[in-house]
Amino acid sequence: MSANLRPMSSRKSGPLKGEAHVPGDKSISHRSMILGALSIGETRVTGLLEGEDVLDTAKAMRAFGAQVERLGDGEWVIQGVGVGGFAEPDHVIDCGNAGTGVRLIMGAMATTPITVTFTGDASLRSRPMGRITDPLALFGAESYGRSGGRLPLTLVGASDPVPVVYHTPVPSAQVKSAVLLAGLNAPGKTVVIEKEATRDHTERMLAGFGAEISTELTDEGRVIRLIGQPELTGQTIVVPRDPSSAAFPVVAALLVEGSEVLVPNIGQNPTRNGLFTTLVEMGADIAFENERIEGGEPVADLRVKHGPLKGVNVPSERAASMIDEYPILAVLAATAEGTTVMGGVKELRVKESDRIDAMARGLEANGVSVEEDEDTLIVHGMGKIPGGAMCKTHLDHRIAMSFMCLGMAAENPVSIDDAGAIETSFPDFIPLMERLGASFRKNNR
Ligand code: S3P
Repeated sequence: MSANLRPMSSRKSGPLKGEAHVPGDKSISHRSMILGALSIGETRVTGLLEGEDVLDTAKAMRAFGAQVERLGDGEWVIQGVGVGGFAEPDHVIDCGNAGTGVRLIMGAMATTPITVTFTGDASLRSRPMGRITDPLALFGAESYGRSGGRLPLTLVGASDPVPVVYHTPVPSAQVKSAVLLAGLNAPGKTVVIEKEATRDHTERMLAGFGAEISTELTDEGRVIRLIGQPELTGQTIVVPRDPSSAAFPVVAALLVEGSEVLVPNIGQNPTRNGLFTTLVEMGADIAFENERIEGGEPVADLRVKHGPLKGVNVPSERAASMIDEYPILAVLAATAEGTTVMGGVKELRVKESDRIDAMARGLEANGVSVEEDEDTLIVHGMGKIPGGAMCKTHLDHRIAMSFMCLGMAAENPVSIDDAGAIETSFPDFIPLMERLGASFRKNNR
């Protein structure tokens, strides 16, 4: 093992009690930085996720000429350069582990005549970028990457961009957002058509910053139209807490006998809440309290109590609305009664790791019976989970946190080879879960 790995283990926990204040939404935090940088005037952000992914995007925005300053905990101010105002960075842009960061930034710069080289960590360098550079080429941008368009990759922004009509070939908010951000500096109307709804934070936030953008539901799917070259104006943004991070304390409370946990202020955007719908179908005791709108996004306080759960069929159409939550759902499914079938999940294979493979191997090692094919993960619930094995995390924060939660309900401790990646999205995960009652331990290398 390399000296940088941080192995940890998680053992059976007593009842979890208390409040879990999870960090700000990662998707909205990235977009706050990027849209703030593309605006005229000041954008003030509170509740920003200060995980490595977003901090890398903040650094990148500075390299493109925006002033980005941290005022206090989660409180940031950005002085933007305006649409088309990005300067050419004088160094390589390293987006670390962040697929969202690099893909949205590529879109945001693709219609400005500058040349930028992007890279990232070993996980990001293995992920497909052709899904972004293909539509950006239609605007007139050129890219030179490794095979499969992978990073490191140099993107030459279009000097005379044209607007684009693009049908997204995969359900991906990152692809949709990259096209919309590129469309900002193209004259005329850029149109994105997506068959299945993916998270719509970019559309909501672009409208909030003053862009002319509309979404129409048609037989083809969602048709999003954006008028290029608007003047975006700096905004005040209150970032809601991340439903994808909330998933960990919520599921942990469902897993561990006798638990009752309150997870306040969680984003309930319908393009993100598929996990909660699924948990309720499994029989979970979750109350959605104080439902309200904050900063243009629906939020609620979640009160979660342990209780018996049953396996379910998660329909493929739900995949986009819970794409990041399948790893932790697979853990819960292992403790439920009956089988849980998760179909339409092949996008999980190109996340920070191949999440179907990572979950299947880790669950099997811990005594859970699992089946998989390219697009499906099936977990056979077994009540008591033997545990006792080490799981590989492949630089993937959600895999690491999922297996730490598995250990909280297993008969024997579950270990992970590296907790380091958790810093990307949920830096406070370990102490927060320990405060609720989790029993975690750093392992000796
Ligand atoms: C994200 C979109 C999703 C998700 C990622 C964040 C975003 O990726 O997995 O964690 O902020 O747009 P895809 O859109 O590629 O599915």
